[in-house]
Amino acid sequence: MIKIPTGIEGMDMMLKGGLLPGRNILLSGPAGSGKSTIAMQFVYNGAQHYGEPSLYVTLEESKEKLIEDMGKFGFDLKKASAMGKFHIVGGPMAKVTHFMQKVDADVLNLIGEIEEIVKSEGIKRVVIDSINLLTMLMKTEREKREALAALANMLSSLGCTTILTSETEEGTMKLSRYGVEEFIVDGVVVLYLVRQGSRFVPGIVVRKMRGSNHDKEIRVYKITDKGVVVYPTETMFGKI
Ligand SMILES: Nc1ncnc2c1ncn2[C@@H]1O[C@H](COP(=O)(O)OP(=O)(O)OP(=O)(O)O)[C@@H](O)[C@H]1O
Ligand SMILES: [Mg+2]
Repeated sequence: MIKIPTGIEGMDMMLKGGLLPGRNILLSGPAGSGKSTIAMQFVYNGAQHYGEPSLYVTLEESKEKLIEDMGKFGFDLKKASAMGKFHIVGGPMAKVTHFMQKVDADVLNLIGEIEEIVKSEGIKRVVIDSINLLTMLMKTEREKREALAALANMLSSLGCTTILTSETEEGTMKLSRYGVEEFIVDGVVVLYLVRQGSRFVPGIVVRKMRGSNHDKEIRVYKITDKGVVVYPTETMFGKI
């Protein structure tokens, strides 16, 4: 089966080639662990190196700030957008947080808007960064599951390979914020910041990947001035 490479070499080795086409994964981790950077590399590489129309939906960070921050890693998002295969949108959810309205209809509107862009631009790779607000807006666990499933199923049915990001609480071993997200998605990749002496060492692990073999070890990664680099042969705690 042909896989969809993320373009992050070490991560693709952990994923035995990449993600399964049309499937979605949750990328979770604590604040500042590199979720947005990894997610951006997936869609940016998709558009620039693999010729796949790609979409990045930023729901928490403004589009302008994201473009500026990612520019520091050498990702020229304006140029990529101008070339036509890379699309970046700031969702209406930003407005929702601003006014602290809790309107379920906004979540459904957002899903509808994403669907329209995916169809009109023939999008193949999608990032939703992040799903925290979306799940927070839904009151009950059942509604959270249903909203996420509606988003994930819509993207899968349109053939999109998707990364959904989710911020986890510091120091937790939980895979997601609400504990429902990991059951909806096809795969889960978790980022950890593990304290070793006076520093935090970043670790990445593929916790679940339906229908695909993958590395089971926690590997070391680094955020560099060119983006995230994963070291697929270095284990977090040495040899076991
Ligand atoms: N040039 C750089 N070199 C090394 N590290 C950097 C560089 N630029 C940013 N960083 C690191 O990257 C982190 C931000 O990464 P990113 O925004 O991808 O994380 P995130 O998990 O999405 O964060 P958040 O929870 O805020 O959404 C910064 O906190 C910083 O530690
Ligand atoms: Mg982020």
